[in-house]
Amino acid sequence: NGLTSSQAASAPPARKKLASWVGFSNLPNQVHRKSVRRGFQFVAMVVGESGLGKSTLINTLFETKLYQPKSIPSPGADRGKTVQIESISAEIEENGVRLKLTVVDTPGFGDFVNNDESWKPIVDNIEARFDAYLEQENRVNRLKLVDNRVHACIYFIQPTGHSLKPIDIEFMKRLHTKVNLIPVIAKSDTMTDDEIKLFKQRILGDIAHHGIQIFVPPQYENEDEETIQENEEILSKVPFAVVGSDHIVQAPDGRQVRGRSYPWGVIEVDNEEHCDFVKLRQMLVRTHMEELREHTNDVLYENYRTDKLKAMGVSQDETVFRETNPAAKQAEERALHEAKLAKMEAEMKMVFQQKVQEKESKLKQSEEELYARHREMKDALEKQRQELEDKKRRVESGRPLTPEKGSQKKRFGLGK
Ligand code: GTP
Repeated sequence: NGLTSSQAASAPPARKKLASWVGFSNLPNQVHRKSVRRGFQFVAMVVGESGLGKSTLINTLFETKLYQPKSIPSPGADRGKTVQIESISAEIEENGVRLKLTVVDTPGFGDFVNNDESWKPIVDNIEARFDAYLEQENRVNRLKLVDNRVHACIYFIQPTGHSLKPIDIEFMKRLHTKVNLIPVIAKSDTMTDDEIKLFKQRILGDIAHHGIQIFVPPQYENEDEETIQENEEILSKVPFAVVGSDHIVQAPDGRQVRGRSYPWGVIEVDNEEHCDFVKLRQMLVRTHMEELREHTNDVLYENYRTDKLKAMGVSQDETVFRETNPAAKQAEERALHEAKLAKMEAEMKMVFQQKVQEKESKLKQSEEELYARHREMKDALEKQRQELEDKKRRVESGRPLTPEKGSQKKRFGLGK
């Protein structure tokens, strides 16, 4: 047809009209049905100081008692010395759609006298989850990938009204390239509307100043008006000032609502006039859950994976190249396998060296013991030799061997 292969590759395909219904327009439904059958996996992490309402908010978000009320540790009780990572999973179903929800909690974060490294166990956990996924991808059978990567991290900011604390900034800086960060102002019912407004500005100022990327709804070209507006409304509420409650209270007009009751009135969780809970839930669960999963896979995980491969010395041009070129993919898998083998070998070497060292020190110890015994025996022998020498000299000089003759006589009753 006169086109060179490169021209053919870059020329946009001509759009043709169909004479009748062919049926592939049903594809989205097919994909949808398949996803519904398989169910979805979503992993949310919650981070924030103790008592900021993390468990309550998760229960409020998913309208289920995922978290049981925790007992408050008594003062002075041993809470351990590091941040713990705990996860709870539950399968929830709504209109036939199954969601396997995992909540990763991080008790201990920010609760110690020295919180310098509070972020570290959390980064380690996120990376370990990436590694587990990477390992599954490298298996021959890649059909059933279990996605336990963290898709969103809700970071609870204490409602101080000042600005972000050093621990908040440090945490976000360490985590923002590895997870979708969603900052929320905890227990926002403890602040007035004006205070919240000012606090949000300060937080956003800090975030911009430190170059921290938080998750914001992405804007695509050709998006419909409604979606654009929806996204803008969500964006205008970041960082979400939330209130959590799994209790039903009575509003002044008699309605039964989820909220918190105060002497001066009732704060309703699901009322947009009262807090940003509705917008947070909309973004996290209703409109952007898939976006969060995609961004985790396509950007955050992909960057981690590329860095890891680079660190292993595997050069990789583009993901597309890898995905479309079986040879490149095979080479990469081989490199990964080799790197794994090298790691195993290094570990085995280390264990071997350790064992040799142990053996050597044991040998050294028994050598020292032997040496000490040898010295003892030598000393004893020397003593014996000297005694014999002494006896010999006495015999030679004609002196009696026993000290007194008289005493012998006495012994045998011969004395007078
Ligand atoms: P840890 O389990 O210790 O990490 O605490 P947590 O962050 O999970 O807090 P939790 O949800 O257990 O809430 C602690 C206390 O704060 C409870 O008494 C909740 O009722 C209360 N609480 C939770 N959310 C809110 C809120 O939005 N506003 C107010 N005022 N109190 C809240």
